[in-house]
Amino acid sequence: MINKNNILPREEVEAQKAYIARMRAENDAYLAEHGVRRKAFVLTFGCQQNEADSEKLSGLSEAMGYEIVGAPEDADLIVVNTCAIREHAEQKALSIVGQYKHLKAKNPDLIIAVCGCMVTQEHRKNDIKFRYPYVDFVFGTSSIHRFPQLLWDKREKGKRLYCPEEKEYLVAEGLPIRRESDYRAWVSVMYGCNNFCSYCIVPYVRGRERSREMAPIVAEVKELVARGYKDITLLGQNVNSYGKDSGYPYDFADLLSELDKIEGDYQLRFMTSHPKDADRKLIDVMADSKHIARHFHLPMQSGSDTILKAMNRHYDTERYLGIVDYMRKKMPDVTITSDIIVGFPGETEEDFEGTLAMLRRVEFDMLYSFIYSARKGTPAAEMEQVPREIQNARFDRLLALQGEIAKAKNQPLVGQKLRVLCDGVSKNNPNLYSGRTEGNKIVFFEGVPEDRGQFVDFVADRADAFALYGKKIAK
Ligand code: 5AD
Ligand code: SF4
Repeated sequence: MINKNNILPREEVEAQKAYIARMRAENDAYLAEHGVRRKAFVLTFGCQQNEADSEKLSGLSEAMGYEIVGAPEDADLIVVNTCAIREHAEQKALSIVGQYKHLKAKNPDLIIAVCGCMVTQEHRKNDIKFRYPYVDFVFGTSSIHRFPQLLWDKREKGKRLYCPEEKEYLVAEGLPIRRESDYRAWVSVMYGCNNFCSYCIVPYVRGRERSREMAPIVAEVKELVARGYKDITLLGQNVNSYGKDSGYPYDFADLLSELDKIEGDYQLRFMTSHPKDADRKLIDVMADSKHIARHFHLPMQSGSDTILKAMNRHYDTERYLGIVDYMRKKMPDVTITSDIIVGFPGETEEDFEGTLAMLRRVEFDMLYSFIYSARKGTPAAEMEQVPREIQNARFDRLLALQGEIAKAKNQPLVGQKLRVLCDGVSKNNPNLYSGRTEGNKIVFFEGVPEDRGQFVDFVADRADAFALYGKKIAK
């Protein structure tokens, strides 16, 4: 049965729009009086889901009459969208918030808001409350849509606000989005996670899974393609369970097939998949599609069955390899990337060797590897921890092996014609342009300004573990 209880009622969205209009009127009056708009700066930590949320926060700020700026010193409103996935991410966010104290001293009218995964945790909300008294308001991931109301209340009442978490995490449709790029876009298709992997904070800070309906997603992607977007990434913590939470009569593979029918010169990506749920139907849809990039990001986390069990992942290495082999059978040129956690509690040398063996067997094109970081409130934080020196040493060994594998995997691409999406002048090497292949590998070449945001044909004459280097060729 279809359950629409996951969707925020229309009236609630309209209520926020009324707050947007009030803020807009106030900010327009400021413009009339001072000849300049009030300015907002949104800073994002963490994953793509957070970047997508920040595009909503910027969209809401813009709709409320703020001009979006790139530097906190220029802003009248600062929003820090935080991450909680590892300790390091939290420390970085807290340190930045600490640095904003002097801005507030210079501009007493400045409003500072902190939101996102970190402050959805009660103990971090309290840290902000007691240690950062100049922060004006704090809200968690369940209240993003309430941002206009919170801002209005703060301005009206002047008091510091700590928005309590909503009873339910709901999908809000129809709020404005200000996209960072004009050719790559994020589209959230579902929010939250039900999996409770034993190391992970996400289910505690992003609530239970809830999916958007297919119709607004299709409408959003159609509009993006019509506006010339070339690369569209569908986002969800576990896209393979898309629709199940709401009893929709369609699943993620059905959603992808529907989106693939949209005409145009663009590619679709998705993340993240879970090996316990990734099924053949999805791989078949990908293999037969016109627009879905042949790139699969499939976090393995560990190559030891004992550790996978302790991580509460609900698959073993045999199942993982089954998916990889099926993918390669259907799409021999598929790019496979993964996430690995090193030094999970209880990881022995033998367990770690198992991970290295899986790296050799699968030959991932690229890995995102992380040293395990204990997260307060998760089961793994209570387990016996691996000493830091051992974690570090294993991490270095993992990187060294993956470096060799990635370099070897990139060699056969040298000399092949590849279609790449150009990102403009490279940040690291201003003499070259950079781009991404269908498999999301980085390429460098000599380009021209018009290449930015366009697909170009490229041939590599050299490759290392991190990138391909070569020339643009005429189409
Ligand atoms: N410590 C280290 N890495 C983690 N990840 C999630 N939680 C933790 C943690 N506590 C990693 C996983 C996940 C990726 C997004 O972050 O590999 O797939
Ligand atoms: Fe975290 Fe596991 Fe959910 Fe991914 S699937 S967000 S690792 S709990």
